[in-house]
Amino acid sequence: MPAIDGLQAEAKANAKKTDDSLVDSVLLQGAVEVKHHEIGVYENLIINARAMGREDVVEVLERNLGSEQRTLAMVKRLQERVAATTPKNPPSEGGVATKIKDALS
Ligand SMILES: [Fe+2]
Repeated sequence: MPAIDGLQAEAKANAKKTDDSLVDSVLLQGAVEVKHHEIGVYENLIINARAMGREDVVEVLERNLGSEQRTLAMVKRLQERVAATTPKNPPSEGGVATKIKDALS
């Protein structure tokens, strides 16, 4: 199974078995893991493209890598905010978390 499919399956399973008040945090944790996986894939591609002397390809891959790193930073900021507030301020029933869980079930 490709690693990305495993990450998706794990995030879905975690969201389903998690209390509604923590679903946003669980999904953001999954997003952090996915971003790290994608960053690792780009880093390997860059190493191989460079070894093949394809600096033109390296340039494109490094742009994509930068985009993934910026997204990771954004997701981590969101995750920090949600993790800090979720237990004190759970979303109401029927909120986004409930819709996400319904969509996954
Ligand atoms: Fe991506």
